[in-house]
Amino acid sequence: MKNKMLMVFTLLMVNYSFAQISKQATMHAFVNQLLAKMTLEEKLGQLNLPASSDFVTGAVSSSDIAQKVKDGKVGGVFNIRSVTKIKELQEYAVKNTRLHIPLLFGMDVIHGYKTIFPIPLGMSATWDMSLIERSARIAASEASADGIMWTFSPMVDLTRDPRWGRTSEGNGEDAFLSSAIAKAMVHGYQGDDLSLKNTIMSCVKHYALYGAAEGGRDYNTTDMSRIRMYNEYFPPYKAAVDAGVKSVMVSFNEIDGVPASGNKWLVDDVLRKQWKFNGFVVSDYTGIPEMVNHGIGDFKTVNEKALLAGVDMDMVGEGFLNMFKKSLKEGKITQAQIDKACERILISKYELGLFDDPYRYCDEKRSATEVFTPKNRMDAREIAAQSFVLLKNNNNLLPLAKGKKIALVGPLANAKENMTGTWSVGADNSKSISLLQGLTEVVGSYGKVSYAAGSNLEDDAELQKRETMFGKEMARDNRTAEQLLQEAVTVSADADVIVAALGEGAESSGESASRSNLDLPAVQQKLLKALLATGKPVVLVLFNGRPLTLTWEDANVPAILDVWFGGSEAGYAIADVLMGKVNPSGKLSMSFPQNVGQIPLYYNHKNTGRPLGKWFSKFQSNYLDVSNEPLYSFGYGLSYSKFEYSHFAVSDTLLKGNKKLTATVEVKNTSNTAGKEVVQMYIRDVVGSVTRPVEELKGFQKIDLASGETKKVIFEITPELLKFYNTDLKYDWESGDFQIMVGPNSREVQKLKINWTK
Ligand code: BGC
Repeated sequence: MKNKMLMVFTLLMVNYSFAQISKQATMHAFVNQLLAKMTLEEKLGQLNLPASSDFVTGAVSSSDIAQKVKDGKVGGVFNIRSVTKIKELQEYAVKNTRLHIPLLFGMDVIHGYKTIFPIPLGMSATWDMSLIERSARIAASEASADGIMWTFSPMVDLTRDPRWGRTSEGNGEDAFLSSAIAKAMVHGYQGDDLSLKNTIMSCVKHYALYGAAEGGRDYNTTDMSRIRMYNEYFPPYKAAVDAGVKSVMVSFNEIDGVPASGNKWLVDDVLRKQWKFNGFVVSDYTGIPEMVNHGIGDFKTVNEKALLAGVDMDMVGEGFLNMFKKSLKEGKITQAQIDKACERILISKYELGLFDDPYRYCDEKRSATEVFTPKNRMDAREIAAQSFVLLKNNNNLLPLAKGKKIALVGPLANAKENMTGTWSVGADNSKSISLLQGLTEVVGSYGKVSYAAGSNLEDDAELQKRETMFGKEMARDNRTAEQLLQEAVTVSADADVIVAALGEGAESSGESASRSNLDLPAVQQKLLKALLATGKPVVLVLFNGRPLTLTWEDANVPAILDVWFGGSEAGYAIADVLMGKVNPSGKLSMSFPQNVGQIPLYYNHKNTGRPLGKWFSKFQSNYLDVSNEPLYSFGYGLSYSKFEYSHFAVSDTLLKGNKKLTATVEVKNTSNTAGKEVVQMYIRDVVGSVTRPVEELKGFQKIDLASGETKKVIFEITPELLKFYNTDLKYDWESGDFQIMVGPNSREVQKLKINWTK
């Protein structure tokens, strides 16, 4: 019986593989026939990706798109926010061009399309891959209903520098967590079948190392050893490639002195040859012409460099379109190179099903019924609540008891336009839920919510403008700072508890939004101090797109809830957590420094030859004025429940060969509140041929625990988890001692030692 089933299964698999091979063969035959018919101009047109002037995300915008489409000079367009317009343009392309090749329509669908989820840094704090995948699935289904079939997401640039504004768009400081997220996102967008009407093509970005910009200043130089690239910064991009991502965007920064947009080693050797990526590579916004400023050639030369490196599509630069006839004549590039780039783009169009039906993503009925639906918004509310991180909760100030009088104070309390955070291109911010609205509705008749703005976002109007652009403008209150503050104090006088909604504006982080100072804006700090001086309990609800320096706040405010930018339903989600309808379970994916001088600060650092024992120690690796510890460590986050870790054990302490080790720990919820806990497992490779980090995340599980419940959590460890790149960039593990650690965060871990030899 068993044999028969095996035979049937094998036959099915063989049939499936044959079907796949023949599908591939049909596709290649189609694309090759099409290529054979195309003129050089038509091929170059396919490599051109102009931006719509609907929503400009770069320094320049493209002009005359319609005419260019008609002339066959366009392969795709991005950031058009209307299904009707997309349909029109698609029709225009298909009807007016000689070979009727449909256009690709892309968009920065980064954390939701119209239903907006938390910013990616917040999403990563859920540590819940199924939720993350679900958010990408919903984003894909909404975007595809509105004509979009390609998203420039996920962004997986690892960063250890919160000054960098684009920290908000990524998954924090850890390669293992970010790799898991990359995989979940790619699968969420692309599903199992890209040709379905509700799946879209994903584009992992920004390849590579963009998050290591010096000084945290956007677009700045990066420079690091290959061993660090391979071990620490590359894995999330590779994880996306392994998950089948169909496109890759190269980054603005240089690597080893060559900008990514023209870096042959990066694109051709690593991405294509080593990682076997076979989709297409797109530049970032004017990333190719910007190589002129980098200083590696004139306009024509840098375009040639990009193509030779393996970049297939030129975003906004128009150099591929306008220069390559000449370059070809001069023998600087070859026809085969142009053909290859064009072929890759046509293949993606084929896989999206565009040659079967160019309008498959333009269904106005779907657009009217499947976007920003009550169901999607409920999901966004649920997901947002899971992303919040409870940083402090003295004397269980949170959740707030029913029936209390709440003074809701702060410039972010009634700021619905700012709830979605940066990169929410498709959102209608006027439909987002502010905290004032959410809290008032959730509290309902069980309590009372009064409100005062308390201050502007920033004292400096110009700075406030920069931090609240792109539809997130915040009207300024023209009363004096003192008048605003006094009003807040008066409103608070009558309350039982003060909820202070403070922090950054939606565009204080994001692209070109680096900061050199990570404190709360001074005017808000002053407000916070005045609120604390009332003697009432204060809950700080912190809006932020990056780790901030909260040393003073941590020492003085009894409860702090980090809510990032939680998306279109943030107001409800925050209220759910404040009022205890949802128990917070987020954990940080990035360390919060005590001050900016500690940056870069990350948990998986090396030990050095003079590691710190106790601060302060002379002639050890430390600072005179601040300890090496973060304020809040990677993996940290509290809950309304209390969890106890016990019976940590490993299945073996002496292993040889390709075995499986299990590490187990019991986690008990000792409180009266049901909750979720992210149980984390770290490994330290004690001795290596190259130095190894003091700990590295190698496993995590998010578990539900009812009040009083205990669960045994099991981690399986194989030599695969012990592998790293050595000096020869060979990926392998080495015999020796290892520390296995488990705990609720990277700092509070229990340790066991094992020895594992080959
Ligand atoms: C950003 C990318 C984005 C692109 C298109 C660029 O400025 O760096 O992340 O996908 O614009 O909007």
